[in-house]
Amino acid sequence: MNIILFGPPGAGKGTQAKKLVDFYGIPQISTGDILRANVREGTELGLAAKAYMDKGELVPDQVLIGIIKNRLTEADCKKGFILDGYPRTVPQADALEAILDEIDKPIDVVLNLEVPDEVLVERISGRLMCKCGASYHVTSNPPKKDNICDSCGSEIFQRVDDTAEAVQNRLDVYKKQTQPLINYYKEKVILVTLNGTKDINVVFEDIKAILAKFA
Ligand code: AP5
Ligand code: MG
Repeated sequence: MNIILFGPPGAGKGTQAKKLVDFYGIPQISTGDILRANVREGTELGLAAKAYMDKGELVPDQVLIGIIKNRLTEADCKKGFILDGYPRTVPQADALEAILDEIDKPIDVVLNLEVPDEVLVERISGRLMCKCGASYHVTSNPPKKDNICDSCGSEIFQRVDDTAEAVQNRLDVYKKQTQPLINYYKEKVILVTLNGTKDINVVFEDIKAILAKFA
């Protein structure tokens, strides 16, 4: 199953991707997590990406296209994959199509999580993250033990781009550069829009019901 999880910052892409990994046993490819790991490790890529990420700007397309091409050709993607946070621009989507044509793994479905801005801001301002990519929320989705990730036991933290200014910019960037991909995909593949404001487990049940048609 080859899936794109689509939606604005805070829509729940990462949260649902983790549940899909557990349920279907296919990998999550989160470009945000890959970039943050590079920032943490101080790689050349991480150093170049950090300034964009901290401000909530998109990292240049060519960088992302390179990352995604390498990742999609790894062995664990043979059974399928869940793209989380990629593509975010038309050039990224065009490049993805070319890469997937080459490896003969077309997208089955784009799942578009819809959540209003005021809910997104509330979610992002209360979010805590783990370096393994798991995400929590101080009130709606706290970890079982204070400040400790349920999945890997590491200490959780607030993301540097979860400040009020960066969040507003991320929402503006999403509307200008990423939202147009909804019409792009409506014309090319199956795009299903889901109500992302429901409880995390209810959204997951809705996603499973859609994916059952493709399994
Ligand atoms: P990225 O890491 O992808 O961030 P994002 O798109 O801004 O999305 P988020 O991770 O903020 O939200 P999410 O949808 O994953 O929500 P989550 O599940 O955590 O990108 C970061 C940066 O990297 C970008 O700004 C850019 O600079 C760069 N970048 C990455 N990819 C790029 C690309 N392709 N091109 C260019 N640059 C790129 O949930 C949010 C919160 O809500 C959590 O607290 C969670 O517990 C809670 N929550 C989730 N679901 C629910 C629910 N149903 N009910 C209640 N609470 C919920
Ligand atoms: Mg995320």
